[in-house]
Amino acid sequence: MKTGNGTRLFLNEVATRDGFQMESRFIPTDDKIALIDRLSRLGYAKIEVTSFTSAKAIPALRDGEEVMQRIARRPGVVYTALVPNVRGAERALESRIDEFNIVMSVSETHNLANLRMTREQSFAQLTDVIALAKQAGVPINVSLSCVFGCPMEGEVPPAVVQGWIDRFAALEVQGVTLCDTTGMAFPTQVQALCEAVLARHPAMGWTAHFHNTRGMGLANAVAAVEAGIRRLDMSLGGIGGCPYAPGATGNVATEDVAHMLQCMGYDTGMDLDGLIAAAAELEALVQHGLSGQVSRAGHRLTRHAPPADFNDIVSRARERRQKEPQP
Ligand code: COA
Ligand code: ZN
Repeated sequence: MKTGNGTRLFLNEVATRDGFQMESRFIPTDDKIALIDRLSRLGYAKIEVTSFTSAKAIPALRDGEEVMQRIARRPGVVYTALVPNVRGAERALESRIDEFNIVMSVSETHNLANLRMTREQSFAQLTDVIALAKQAGVPINVSLSCVFGCPMEGEVPPAVVQGWIDRFAALEVQGVTLCDTTGMAFPTQVQALCEAVLARHPAMGWTAHFHNTRGMGLANAVAAVEAGIRRLDMSLGGIGGCPYAPGATGNVATEDVAHMLQCMGYDTGMDLDGLIAAAAELEALVQHGLSGQVSRAGHRLTRHAPPADFNDIVSRARERRQKEPQP
């Protein structure tokens, strides 16, 4: 394992999309906006604000337009949203989005379950979306679900993943996100796939997106960064998950990833204390405990007071030492 040596990494927050889509309580629009405005000041490269999906499929994000319109956009932060089809792209354009995060799954079964289309039908929709985005001069990122495995199909062969990446690369998209939708990825697999795709498409803007379903999220993030990935998706407090992927749980927690990478010497640009405070606010909003660790434990050098009877312990230790026979 290497030290970060000041290497700049770019952190993307997905709590308000990947996270809120999975919450049973509808987060009020004003609260979503206040949280995004707070997050905008913490050093993120990108915030995935919402998704422009069908309100039947994702009722939690039915207020996408209003949220996009009312947030205070901070220069330097890219405000993106998930777009599954042409209708979503039209809504995103009306909302003056900075980037389209178009989505499909490399697993046929997950794509049908999540987007109600075959992969080819999704690709045809997304080809039209890309044409729309190009006309409007809006950059495109493609989030590919299940690239490290599908909860219904099992292994997805790397050649299948590469095939879809090649087809989107041929349409000249700016970025691709490798999504581990249900935490099936493990570090050596991440390293191998990331190295392979980077070697094949070195000019692509690569992002990795890990769910922590099996506790491998942090290790996978390190593996991706060491393979050369410089952008990571993550979710404040570790909330998140795809409602149409069986067994899905939250993303790797932003505060945990940022803390780890900062300890390792990477330049994340993130305000860790600000993240911890924001996680406390998020916990109040979602009204349940969060899985992030660092928001509870604090930074590794957080110092705690010694026990209340510490002075007695020290005196007793001294007395014992005085009674010991001198050599
Ligand atoms: N935004 C808003 N409404 C949309 C929409 C969009 N992007 N796409 C379709 N709709 C509406 C249609 O207008 C139609 O409305 P109506 O019933 O009032 O006429 C209805 O949704 C059904 O449209 P259809 O094209 O038949 O969609 P579908 O039911 O086959 O669903 C998707 C396809 C892609 C829209 C839907 O599955 C979806 O939004 N999935 C997103 C899942 C997701 O975000 N998962 C987590 C992230 S990975
Ligand atoms: Zn996700």
